[in-house]
Amino acid sequence: MIILGIESSCDDSGLALYDTHIKNLRSHVICSQNLVHKKYGGVVPELAARTHIQTIIPLLKKLLKNSNLELNKIDIIAYTKGPGLSGSLLVGASIACSIALSINKPVIGIHHLEGHLLSPFLSNNSLTFPFIALLVSGGHTQLIKVNSMGNYFLLGETLDDAAGETFDKIAKMLDLGYPGGPKISLISEFGDPNIYKFPRPMLYTNDFNFSFSGLKTSVLNVIKNIKLDLLKQEKANIARGFLDAIIDVLTSKCIAALKNTGFNKLVVVGGVGANKQLRKKLNILKKKYNYTVFYPKKEFCTDNGAMIAFAGAMRIENNSNLELNYEFNIKPQWKINQIKI
Ligand code: KG4
Ligand code: ZN
Repeated sequence: MIILGIESSCDDSGLALYDTHIKNLRSHVICSQNLVHKKYGGVVPELAARTHIQTIIPLLKKLLKNSNLELNKIDIIAYTKGPGLSGSLLVGASIACSIALSINKPVIGIHHLEGHLLSPFLSNNSLTFPFIALLVSGGHTQLIKVNSMGNYFLLGETLDDAAGETFDKIAKMLDLGYPGGPKISLISEFGDPNIYKFPRPMLYTNDFNFSFSGLKTSVLNVIKNIKLDLLKQEKANIARGFLDAIIDVLTSKCIAALKNTGFNKLVVVGGVGANKQLRKKLNILKKKYNYTVFYPKKEFCTDNGAMIAFAGAMRIENNSNLELNYEFNIKPQWKINQIKI
């Protein structure tokens, strides 16, 4: 069976073909809108939707060409149904349903976060349920107990900004560009870890929630108190102080979740999961706390069509309902614990 995955929940158009016979991807393509949103320092929803309209069909043509496949050889179309930006979701859903109608094949609406949660299976044959997932992206920061396919229990989440959003906002304050995560990661390598000690919010609260707005304000106050046209070294010191603080919080909460549940497998997904320093610290701590940690390939940390095609394949394997009426209804506010198999 060949499953076409279409991801368009935010600012990346991603398409992929997953083949259930070979249990692998045939091909995948992605078009990031970073250049479109760069000058605004964040995603502009209206521009994101318009850009998806321009990119998805050419990407589909490229995908089919890369895998030497005709459109009617696709068996099922999986698309991101939510959560995400309404306009962006609508574009992906309407294209998915139109293609499906034209070739008389069913569609399946996928929860974007389920796509992220399952993404490490694409490259880790030894990964099995259950596990604890740290989902850290531009829009979400959650700790989830993943019991089995479709059975997810939300342990905790951010009470305000998401981790990726915090990276982006601080990069904007430091005038480093968008998206901020990779820029902060890079510049922080030249920073002195002993100059700025920023707060570690909610580190000792006995729960699995996060809060990053105080950390962001604290960084802002430092930037305000020194000159706006910061020297590169000063920017690097601030970035390093911020990175150390956010990584401390993320890793401590992961370890608390593993201890509390008795699980010994950790999965880290979402854009921030590509962060080199976060991976390094989690890898260092695994001996001490006796856990194994799995990540998706770096290219599948940020939004992509491969994870949506794969989640579609997993849902079909688990007899999830397919839709043949093409009356798509997007779910911009869909919560992870509202998912059913
Ligand atoms: O998963 P994703 O594509 O978006 C959502 O679904 O929300 O993640 C995008 C986020 C951005 O905020 C970006 O700054 C962050 O992931 N990010 C990183 C890194 N690469 C991307 N954050 C920290 N370090 C990175 N290397
Ligand atoms: Zn995402």
